[in-house]
Amino acid sequence: MIPDVDNECLVYLNGDYVRLGDAKVSVLDRGFIFGDGIYEVVPAYDGKPFRMKQHLARLERSLGAVRIETGKSTAEWEHLVVDMIKRSGLGDCMAYLQVTRGVAKRDHGFPLHALRPTIFCMVSPFTRPDAHKREQGMSVVGMPDERWLHCEIKSVSLLGNVLAKQFAVDAGVDDVIQFRDGNLSEGSSCNIWVVKGGTLLAPLRDHFILEGIRYAFLAELAAEAGVAFESRVIARAEVEHADELLLSSATKEVLPIVRYDGRPVGNGRPGPVYAKLRAGYDRAIARL
Ligand code: PDD
Repeated sequence: MIPDVDNECLVYLNGDYVRLGDAKVSVLDRGFIFGDGIYEVVPAYDGKPFRMKQHLARLERSLGAVRIETGKSTAEWEHLVVDMIKRSGLGDCMAYLQVTRGVAKRDHGFPLHALRPTIFCMVSPFTRPDAHKREQGMSVVGMPDERWLHCEIKSVSLLGNVLAKQFAVDAGVDDVIQFRDGNLSEGSSCNIWVVKGGTLLAPLRDHFILEGIRYAFLAELAAEAGVAFESRVIARAEVEHADELLLSSATKEVLPIVRYDGRPVGNGRPGPVYAKLRAGYDRAIARL
């Protein structure tokens, strides 16, 4: 049995619904052998998926980028996610989807015959960031981005991200901010935002970052709140001298970063742009 998870909960594996504790994948699965697969995390509030269409569009982009063909239509993915959330009976939760290239004799090249991809979905409870996190904020340290050059693909090959997160854990902080050639890329599993002179800045949506589903969403919230938004290359010095720093992800939503490399960010308290985006985020969830 796997500690700290609900081994009884039903998961979807290749068309079957099985107990998590009973779900098994071959050791020759290319996801296990090569990290040859992609994933997606769709949050839901009160059982209602949030921005599901955008998450599934990204899933399909990731599949296309690594040439995995599942034969599933967008409507079938939607049905799977909605159905799994319903079956879980959970309120605030997240649907984790993973697709690997499938099971084959170990060979780096794709097999000549068409493989049946391994398709997995599980739904887990998700605790929204609490008042403490929202008010006290996050602490981060900077580090070089040592990952590959296709960070726009939501690949399960996450060793670079895992080691980056562990760098934060070892440093006793919440996360890292990674820099590639002296410019901001992203956190270990979140996007990073910079506020300077009232303008919200985000790095370009290129292959150096995963374009979070919150990327377009926070840009929309900024527009609603009358906050100027700019997407451009952001130098490390701009991060170090930011008025505010924020992070965003499906599970962290949007949170303020109040300490960077042991120093306060701005006045060391969550700032006004964060407050506006947080209020907009909460309103969008309430409207679901
Ligand atoms: N991570 N960048 C990276 C490297 C990520 O792993 C994530 C999300 C994001 C933010 O994307 P979104 O706003 O769509 O969640 C950015 C998820 C939550 C994870 O790996 O669990």
